[in-house]
Amino acid sequence: METVLSGIRSTGQLHLGNYYGALKNFVKMQHDARCYFFIADYHSLTTHPDPSALHGNVRNALAEYLAAGLDPNVATIYVQSDVPQVAELSLLLSMHAYVGELERTVSFKDKIRKHPENVNAGLLTYPVLMAADILMHRATRVPVGKDQEQHLEMTRKFARRFNSIYGVDYFPESLPYNFGNDLVKVPGLDGSGKMGKSEGNGIYLVDSDKEISKKVMKAVSDGGPTEPHQVMADPIQNLFSIMSIVSTPDTYSYFMDKYNSCEIRYGDMKKQIAADMISVISPIRERIVEIKSNDKYINEVVADGASKARESANATIKDVREIMGIKSF
Ligand code: TRP
Repeated sequence: METVLSGIRSTGQLHLGNYYGALKNFVKMQHDARCYFFIADYHSLTTHPDPSALHGNVRNALAEYLAAGLDPNVATIYVQSDVPQVAELSLLLSMHAYVGELERTVSFKDKIRKHPENVNAGLLTYPVLMAADILMHRATRVPVGKDQEQHLEMTRKFARRFNSIYGVDYFPESLPYNFGNDLVKVPGLDGSGKMGKSEGNGIYLVDSDKEISKKVMKAVSDGGPTEPHQVMADPIQNLFSIMSIVSTPDTYSYFMDKYNSCEIRYGDMKKQIAADMISVISPIRERIVEIKSNDKYINEVVADGASKARESANATIKDVREIMGIKSF
């Protein structure tokens, strides 16, 4: 069975693009593999050192992932800093990570360019800590976006190097987890290609019904088709794509027919999209609120996840120490 590990940023709220793009797949995947999901709060310290916000961010992220369907009875869900063994593994791995290769990491070069005033050592060793997260559970699969592929490549390099230096076959190859055909791309409603936080066009899982309607009604469209089966402009294609995601196939065909016969009214279409989107998001939003008000539940989930994650972490640390020659007296 595959061991899958996914690291979750503790900053930023989940939008529909995250939900359809990854989360729904995570929810399915948790039943088919040994899954670890963790909130990467140590990592966030490399760029967001705000003590008054950190805990709340972690709590929000947890509540959102749980509300969307990650099941603590099925997967191991934990907070990175609850498993400080990862810091030891990161230290041990750093002995075989070369400064040159760390300096050449795209994300690092990016960070120095954008924040020349804060080029800290944590940023430089970010990929080592990430490798420790992954190798800690000897994960064989890691779902990552494009921006994290290089980090995953470095994880494999560190693992191979460790195996070869010590003449062991200990760390596995951690491969990307590709959802293939299940990967749903949610377009932006501002006429742009993709929904994203940095694009500023997100519809969030915590948005109220009113906010959702407002955002959808403002979606970019055009003057409408003037001849039957007219080629669609990108923003209209986006509207149809999003409709294919949130609405029923019947609804979709209804509006597609209207488009093809030049009878479409985008206002009606948007109203329909908003209503269908609300019926997806509002139950999740309600669960987020419910979970966030239930400290006892959150505490139990976190404690249970930490204890399961530590068990796996302790086993790895014990082996790695032994392989590297650290023996107890
Ligand atoms: N760097 C990842 C991101 O920014 C988060 C992360 C930290 C991660 N450790 C990980 C992802 C381990 C996958 C595996 O999104």
